Amino acid sequence: MIDVQGLQKSYKDFQAVNNSNFHVEEGEIFGFLGPNGAGKSTTINILSTMLQPTSGSVTINGYDVTKHQNRVRESIGIIFQQNTLDEKLTAKENLKLHCKFYGVPRSKRKARINEVLEIVDLTDSINLLVEKFSGGMQRRLEIARGLLHYPKVLFLDEPTVGLDPQTRAHVWEYILKLKENENITMFLTTHYLDEAEISDRIAIMDHGDIIAIDTPRNLKQQLGGDIVEIKTTDNEAAMKEIESDFDVVDLSLQDGFINCKVENSDAFVSSFIKTLQTPLTGLDIRKPTLNDVFLSFTGREIRD
Ligand SMILES: Nc1ncnc2c1ncn2[C@@H]1O[C@H](COP(=O)(O)OP(=O)(O)OP(=O)(O)O)[C@@H](O)[C@H]1O
Ligand SMILES: [Mg+2]
Repeated sequence: MIDVQGLQKSYKDFQAVNNSNFHVEEGEIFGFLGPNGAGKSTTINILSTMLQPTSGSVTINGYDVTKHQNRVRESIGIIFQQNTLDEKLTAKENLKLHCKFYGVPRSKRKARINEVLEIVDLTDSINLLVEKFSGGMQRRLEIARGLLHYPKVLFLDEPTVGLDPQTRAHVWEYILKLKENENITMFLTTHYLDEAEISDRIAIMDHGDIIAIDTPRNLKQQLGGDIVEIKTTDNEAAMKEIESDFDVVDLSLQDGFINCKVENSDAFVSSFIKTLQTPLTGLDIRKPTLNDVFLSFTGREIRD
């Protein structure tokens, strides 16, 4: 559904995307992650025909993004991070306007509007002014609008940013429902790594390069080992002890906890508890998360 080969984009002499190669299968949820400035928006803008690549080839639904822009635009829906609905119009008026922009045939508009409102559970609010909608309802309406013209690919740029956890969960329910019922391909960026977990595959971009691409499960397995989180009365002293006395893969201080990455947590913890001089106040063992994967590949947290 999406095929990217040798994609490069430079702004004057600055290379924002170096040499990207990836493809996305039909019906796949593809998570696209990276720290600030990695080149994610640049890539999405090229894939959605808003920006010209410097070189390389990109096809969406079989259409070249530079040669068949209109065909590409008919094939995609975009849900932007910021609200782009007209608040002074009702839900129905917003959707009608979009139908006109996208050339949905007049005879099909009414049925299609009802259909997409049903998908996001907003049928009862069809005649309500958007300014009266809650944040979560507005997001759902944006999603509905993105679906009006039967896109094959949906680009979701931070679709749940700024929403409360309950509404976030709700929006994700709809996104998953869409994947199941309509087989839409989703290209997703998010700064919430727990959300990225729902992706079938994830690409991590950094400094214009795609540095990892795999299923969330494989990425975490690739990291291997366990994370032991330790809290002590003096974390700095404890870290010095750990560095000199133990065999750890990685050691870092995060949110008042020492994060120890070890090959085998059983062996580590049993000898650690006996040997550590600094008084221990807390200990937890966990498997690597996507956050750990991200940190290990980019050396940075996903947020600045
Ligand atoms: N129009 C432009 N002219 C010059 N440089 C640009 C332009 N747009 C983006 N850049 C640079 O290209 C790099 C990639 O930017 P991009 O917006 O693609 O990053 P991003 O991964 O979307 O980051 P964020 O997470 O902050 O949204 C950055 O260093 C940015 O400063
Ligand atoms: Mg961006």
